[in-house]
Amino acid sequence: GDLVFAHGGAAFTYMLAGALLLPVAVLVLVRTDDRQGVPLRVDLRDALRGADPDEGLSESGFFIAVEGGDGAGKSTQVEALAQWIRDKGHEVVVTREPGATSIGQRLRSILLDVSTAGISHRSEALLYAADRAEHVDGLVRPALERGAVVITDRYIDSSVAYQGGGRELSPTEVARINRWATGGLVPNLTVLLDIAPETARERFTEAPDRLESEPPEFHERVRAGFLALAAADPGRYLVVDAGQDAAVVTTAVRHRLDQILPLSEQEVRAQEEARRQAEEERKRREAEEAARKAEEERQERERQEQLERLRREEEERKRREIEEAKRLEAEREAELARQRAEEARRQAEEERKRR
Ligand code: TYD
Repeated sequence: GDLVFAHGGAAFTYMLAGALLLPVAVLVLVRTDDRQGVPLRVDLRDALRGADPDEGLSESGFFIAVEGGDGAGKSTQVEALAQWIRDKGHEVVVTREPGATSIGQRLRSILLDVSTAGISHRSEALLYAADRAEHVDGLVRPALERGAVVITDRYIDSSVAYQGGGRELSPTEVARINRWATGGLVPNLTVLLDIAPETARERFTEAPDRLESEPPEFHERVRAGFLALAAADPGRYLVVDAGQDAAVVTTAVRHRLDQILPLSEQEVRAQEEARRQAEEERKRREAEEAARKAEEERQERERQEQLERLRREEEERKRREIEEAKRLEAEREAELARQRAEEARRQAEEERKRR
């Protein structure tokens, strides 16, 4: 019809670039689609919402993971935090990976036993994930559902850092199998105790286990893995320099928890009580203030009345003074008149005698 399609140099180049990109885009999509079977439309919607569709915070309770390399001082911190949170009135469940359940115990002994050396990296990752699945299902979720605060010494990030970073498996894949293993449960806060591996090594008191015996480069990669995870989601991580004094580390963690930890029933009651007391105090102060004002007004009224009385008395005194002055003046004038009359009478008498 009337349609004219002008394909000059620039338009033609764009069209060609678009046409070449299309098959590349399809190829990339096919190779990277990590949720095959889920329509692209749903993937796009989830991506636009900004959340990883597989991840979720627990709806009740509060989940804290303490992570870090070997010798970072995790158990000391876990104990200190647990006590502090307990004192706030929360039920606190302290747990750890691997080995918090009876099956986990068996997996732990396989995983950490030096005789397991040579286990394939993938089996190692799967065994840690299996321990985690058991842990979350049998211990963590039930505690969170009760409303408890769960503090775990290591969680998914350990696998991403040790098996992903340390063993050089794909961190995304390690994260994915772990998301599946845990049903997508993510901690409300992950505390990363960051320490240089050589500093941490000086703290070892027992014979190193299978992973602790790995060479320094392994532990450097683990450290870098942890830091990369924390950098990607600063809102959900707290990185603390674990080379500092343990008490300083605890204070830093407490400070963060103070901002995000929900109040326990005990704290809610204490807050209500404090509010009630403050309200009573406010009412008492208002009543005192009103009484003080009334008293001031009464005193002011009295003062005004007294001033009025003094003013009237002063007027009365002045009036009397004027009357008194007038009376004296009249008397003086009468006296003068009398003297003048006397003088006239005397003069008349003298005149009469002289005549
Ligand atoms: P941990 O219990 O912290 O060691 P210890 O009781 O000696 O303090 O962890 C045991 C080891 O397991 C530790 O070296 C880190 C390693 N590990 C992984 O490699 N991947 C994981 O997913 C977990 C949880 C631990």
